[in-house]
Amino acid sequence: MLLLIKNGTVINPGDKTEVKADVLVEDGRIKKIAPKQAIKADRTIDAKDCYVMPGFIDMHVHLRDPGMEHKETVETGVRAAVHGGFTTVVAMPNTKPVVDNPDVVNYVHNKAKNVGLAHVLQAGSVTKGQRGEVLSEIEGMVEAGIPAISEDGKSVMNAQLYREAMTLAVKYDIPVLAHCEDINMVNGGVVNADEYTEKMRLRGISNSVEDVIIARDITLAKETGAALHLCHCSTKDSVKMIDLAKKDGVRVTAEACPHHFILTSSDIKENDANYKMNPPLRTKEDVKALREGLKADIIDVIATDHAPHTAIEKGVGIRKAPFGIVGLETAAALTMTELVDKGWLTIMQMAEKMSYNPAKILGLDKGVVEEGKSADLVIFDAQKEYSIRPEEFYSRGKNTPFAGKKVKGMVMATIVDGRIAFERAGEEKND
Ligand code: DOR
Ligand code: ZN
Ligand code: ZN
Repeated sequence: MLLLIKNGTVINPGDKTEVKADVLVEDGRIKKIAPKQAIKADRTIDAKDCYVMPGFIDMHVHLRDPGMEHKETVETGVRAAVHGGFTTVVAMPNTKPVVDNPDVVNYVHNKAKNVGLAHVLQAGSVTKGQRGEVLSEIEGMVEAGIPAISEDGKSVMNAQLYREAMTLAVKYDIPVLAHCEDINMVNGGVVNADEYTEKMRLRGISNSVEDVIIARDITLAKETGAALHLCHCSTKDSVKMIDLAKKDGVRVTAEACPHHFILTSSDIKENDANYKMNPPLRTKEDVKALREGLKADIIDVIATDHAPHTAIEKGVGIRKAPFGIVGLETAAALTMTELVDKGWLTIMQMAEKMSYNPAKILGLDKGVVEEGKSADLVIFDAQKEYSIRPEEFYSRGKNTPFAGKKVKGMVMATIVDGRIAFERAGEEKND
């Protein structure tokens, strides 16, 4: 099939160019990028006033499948992904059962293949059952195609075991995606520890809960030579430590999530668990440090930590509800509105942090818009304004603190391997 995307502005973080051109796609690959291509294609998409960008790659999502399909399934998660402009997602292994052996990896990959809309890469857990006692079947999972190992949802508190896992990650040439949280220091906390949450009489999680494990994990990465990717960084000192570690030559990269670079604990609405996630919303100093870290390319990646829960699960108040919010269908618009439009990032940096850098970290031949490369693309209207409406999400999870927020930036179409996986015109409403 020949697909022609006309009149767009092509953003290619591969060579940092921004050009007005038509993009011709054939058999899943980009065939030609040139202005005014007069070709009779099977399908033509008019991308006038839109960017044509490499499809977004979310290094951090929870698809809840197997075992928690009431929250999300591979299919609903992938539909949410392409609705949000993501062409590849990395699924975290804290499912039921935990993804700690090749059978579960194959289960998720086969399900994703049957859905066929976007690329799903299943990460393997570090320890069996995420119990922190013995290592998972890492070699077998590597053979089954995991792109990384991660204990997300927890930290591996046994540093010796984590060091062994990092040594294996070096051997198999995969990154370690680290959720940094000292489990013993959480001590019943549900929100950030600060003056606002104290007034709400909620127990706090201090920055040190994250910072001590970031320091430990950087130390272990330095010793083992592992590629360490720090998930959902939320504290100002995490940015300082990442900067130092990079300057010291440690193989460290880091991600930040839209909620952490936009909201603070003072935004929390009375007992509304849509503001509860792990790590928690911090202070304005932390938000500023994250934005500065993103701008200075100390933070390499924007990921969502898409964590769907049902309305019933989230409806029991901040103290009791599970941690987590959805993000796949709001990340691009939030990044455009809060970072690009306000001058924190250029559109090129947005493409780097949402496509190019995740591809590099994961070792994928993706994240660029270049002739000969796979046609994973997003057509993004950066000017389009609207309000976020969770009822329009394809995800089963509607748990977002951004409901009603006015944003700028709409995904018009998402193309995966040259096929239109989502298109706004004539879009059918989700149930
Ligand atoms: O907010 C979170 N939700 N943080 C995590 O670490 C886990 C995730 C989940 O699985 O719900
Ligand atoms: Zn996490
Ligand atoms: Zn997570």
